[in-house]
This record gives sequence, structure tokens and C-alpha cells, in this order.
Amino acid sequence: MTTPSTGTTKTVLITGTSSGIGLAAAVAAAGAGWLAVATMRDTGRADALLKAAEEAGVRDLVQVKQLDVTDADSVAACVAEVVAEHGHLDAVVNNAGAGFVGTIEQHGMEKLREVMEVNFFGVAELTRAVLPHLRASGGRVITVTSVGGVVGQPFNESYCAAKFAVEGFMEALAPVAASAGVQVAVVEPGAVSSEFVNNIELDVPALLTAAGPYAPALRGYIDHAMRSFGSDTAQTPQEAAAPVVEALTAETMPFRIQTSDWARDFVGRKLTDLDGSAVQTETTAWLG
Ligand SMILES: NC(=O)c1ccc[n+]([C@@H]2O[C@H](COP(=O)([O-])OP(=O)(O)OC[C@H]3O[C@@H](n4cnc5c(N)ncnc54)[C@H](OP(=O)(O)O)[C@@H]3O)[C@@H](O)[C@H]2O)c1
Repeated sequence: MTTPSTGTTKTVLITGTSSGIGLAAAVAAAGAGWLAVATMRDTGRADALLKAAEEAGVRDLVQVKQLDVTDADSVAACVAEVVAEHGHLDAVVNNAGAGFVGTIEQHGMEKLREVMEVNFFGVAELTRAVLPHLRASGGRVITVTSVGGVVGQPFNESYCAAKFAVEGFMEALAPVAASAGVQVAVVEPGAVSSEFVNNIELDVPALLTAAGPYAPALRGYIDHAMRSFGSDTAQTPQEAAAPVVEALTAETMPFRIQTSDWARDFVGRKLTDLDGSAVQTETTAWLG
């Protein structure tokens, strides 16, 4: 895969590649002939990525760099280094993110702000930093949001707020960026068997004890979520990463991309639910 302007290998910067979808996307992008700048906040956690790249025979196309999306200096330094080393940047995959379960009355504003920092402001910061370089290369911005960026889900007010914010930001940016030759897309997975749930570090008994009047509804939600992640509609990180790399390599990409039939059905129900009643009926039923 080469850039028309320089004839050199196309370069994609991907965030959150120590595990899950980001790791799989870095390996698959390298498999498609791109140089994958695989970033993570702690480069000491690169072993799984490097092993997977080695096994796929693409180790020479995967370069690990430090980037914490909540640290503006780390974002600026990483982007500057990539452009200095490679002379161009052809795409960014905003993938880093973290889930959080709880309801606003109980966890309060500080937690909401933390969730927004990682899942929304981090995406905005990196996108702002790469846009000049993507304008130069006629590149693209691909952002992993979630079906939770379209459908609000119980006990996910903060996470869904952040993912909705990303979707609104990107939908508004897309025509502006396109006017300067940059394509923008969002990728919406449903449940994916990555480190996502483990990284939330849920202490279910403690959460239920603290939930007070919301405990029965929270129990229902947790049971529902566990069934979703255990069901055959849950994807592997490789399955969820495949549409990301398809978007990277296709001539043009649509704005909104679901990673599975299940995600397409779920998002589709919301996008035609003009008065909100279909979603409310569905998500209320999750609470038992
Ligand atoms: N898994 C799902 O069911 C699911 C469904 C829909 C959408 N998504 C979205 O898919 C994306 C990837 O998640 P995943 O499923 O692959 O989960 P994952 O295995 O937990 O991967 C998340 C990645 O984000 C990184 N990260 C967290 N905070 C960061 C920060 N401040 N700066 C840089 N990197 C940071 C993590 O790094 P550390 O190792 O350093 O923590 C990790 O590499 C996320 O945006 C998530 O919201 C996931």
C-alpha cells in the first residue's frame, strides 16, 4: 500500500493497541500492507501485540509508540514524531476507550468527567492534532465508537454520553473535513470479547450493595450484559477490527459502519425510532 504523493508505505496511527480491537486492527492493517504505528499509554504492555504481529509475519510493519489520549503533550509529541520519521500520516484510528458502569446519582460528576476525558476529549484532541497532516495526505479519520454511541443503555449514562458526543462530533466534522479531502467514519461494535469488561474492573457485589433503590434494576442489567457478552452475537476483536481495516483500505468509506449484523439491527432500530418508544421498551426490558 503506497501513497500516491511519495510512493512510500502508507502510515496509520492507531490508539489503544495493547489489547482488543486496537491490537487486532494494528496487526490487520499491517497485514494489508500499511505501516501501523501502534500506540499505547504504557509501551511496557506491547508484548501481546508484538507476539501477534510476529505470528502474522508483519512485525516489520508494526511500530510501537507511547500515546495517552488524556495527555495533550503525549498526543502532540507522538504525532510530531510520526510525521518527522515517516514524512506523512495517511490515517488515524481513534480506538482507545474504556467502559464504565453506574448511574449518575451515585457515582457523581467526577467519574462522568473521567469517562468523557478518555472516550471523548481524547478523541477530539488527537483528531485536532492529526488533521493538518491528513489534509496533506488526503487521509482519513476512523473512530471506534459503539452501538452505545447510538442507543443509550441503562447504567451507561457516562459511557454512552461520551460515545454519543464522539458520534455527534464526527458527524459534524465529516463534511468539513471532506471539503479539505479528508474522509471521516465511525465504527460501531456491539459486544466484543476483548479486555473491555475486565478493564472496567467491576466489583458486582460492592456495586449492588451501593446501588440502594437501583439494586434490582442493576442486577437485571448486569445479567443482561453477561448474557450479551456470552452469546454467539459477541464478536472476537479480530472480527470487530476487520471493518476498521476495510474502511482504511476501501476507495471510499461510508460515515457509519456497524461491525456485525446484530449491531446493524440494533442501531437500525434506533435510527427509525422517532419518538424513542421502541428503544425505551427494549432497554427497560433488560432490567428484568
Ligand atoms: N468490547 C466491547 O464490547 C466494545 C463494544 C463497543 C465499543 N467498544 C470500543 O472499542 C474500543 C476498543 O475497546 P476494546 O473492546 O478493544 O477494549 P480493551 O481491550 O479494553 O482495549 C481498550 C484499549 O484502550 C486503551 N486505553 C484506555 N485508556 C487509554 C488512554 N487514556 N490512552 C490510550 N489508550 C487507552 C487500553 O489501554 P491499557 O491497556 O493501557 O488500559 C486498551 O489498549 C473502545 O473505544 C471501546 O469503547 C468496545
